[in-house]
Amino acid sequence: MSTIQLNNNTKIPVLGLGTWQSSPEEVYTAVLHALKTGYRHIDTAFAYDNEESIGRAIHDSGIPRDELFITTKLWCTYHQVPQEGLKESLKRLGLEYVDLYLMHWPVPLNPKGNDPKFPTLPDGNRDIVEGWDFVKTWEKMQELVGNGTKSVGVSNFDVENLERLLEAPSTKIVPVANQVELHPHLPQHKLLKFAKAKGIVLEAYSPLGSTNSPLLTEPELVKIAEKYQVSTATILISWAIWRGTVVLPKSITPKRIESNFKTVKLDDVDGKTIDDLHKTIGIKRFINPNWYPVTVFHGDE
Ligand code: A2P
Repeated sequence: MSTIQLNNNTKIPVLGLGTWQSSPEEVYTAVLHALKTGYRHIDTAFAYDNEESIGRAIHDSGIPRDELFITTKLWCTYHQVPQEGLKESLKRLGLEYVDLYLMHWPVPLNPKGNDPKFPTLPDGNRDIVEGWDFVKTWEKMQELVGNGTKSVGVSNFDVENLERLLEAPSTKIVPVANQVELHPHLPQHKLLKFAKAKGIVLEAYSPLGSTNSPLLTEPELVKIAEKYQVSTATILISWAIWRGTVVLPKSITPKRIESNFKTVKLDDVDGKTIDDLHKTIGIKRFINPNWYPVTVFHGDE
């Protein structure tokens, strides 16, 4: 399994199993099957409600812990106490450490609101903590390195928010990774260039275009898939690797888990064709929750 070197000299396997929207029952067999297939990188989050099953599958696989790369994420209602968020995730996972702990979204939510995960205000908008922001959260997350996680990073950060984070005097550690939505409808070339220049690895979530993806039948991608005699999904995963990102395809289907693991080395000409595909098929962001009044995505570049 090939790896990418992170800015703290640890390594991350380029391909990992995504688990968002995998129920606890589904995810147990999916993770076990993925580990049998050869995956060594599993991506989860407190908010996915499946950490406990994933922990059990890891344990039952019998694979030594140091051969695995496990990521989980700090949920928004824990922004003021990331050490508690991590502690609770480790307990659910049944692990002593994770390899990577990510700030899931750059928005703190009220931990004492009307819902433990998605507290809302009477007007329906999310109940956001005033007077706190992700720079303060990051200040605290930095202390977690060596205390339950090997590395820390962020998720759903655009260039503007990354710049703010990196310029803050309290920022001593550059995030090792930024996990964002990436696929041919949302290649985010500008963000990728910026992240590479700063030594931040981008991780692609929803690399297939999420559930019922229109990309799987996109004629240009189907044509490239025919050239390599593989599925369109394999082309999407291989393109993510070709452009230097980590890629996290989600599946609970054994056959797909297996085929998603067999990537191909794309010719540059095909990689560049896919790079430019958004010019004809258009830009589409599939995951864009309402964080009003906070702007999370200032653009789609
Ligand atoms: P399932 O989990 O039922 O196998 P993304 O990673 O972009 O979020 O995409 C996940 C979606 O794509 C899920 O609905 C998943 O279905 C489906 N999927 C995963 N792998 C493949 C594949 N090789 N071919 C077609 N669909 C796939």
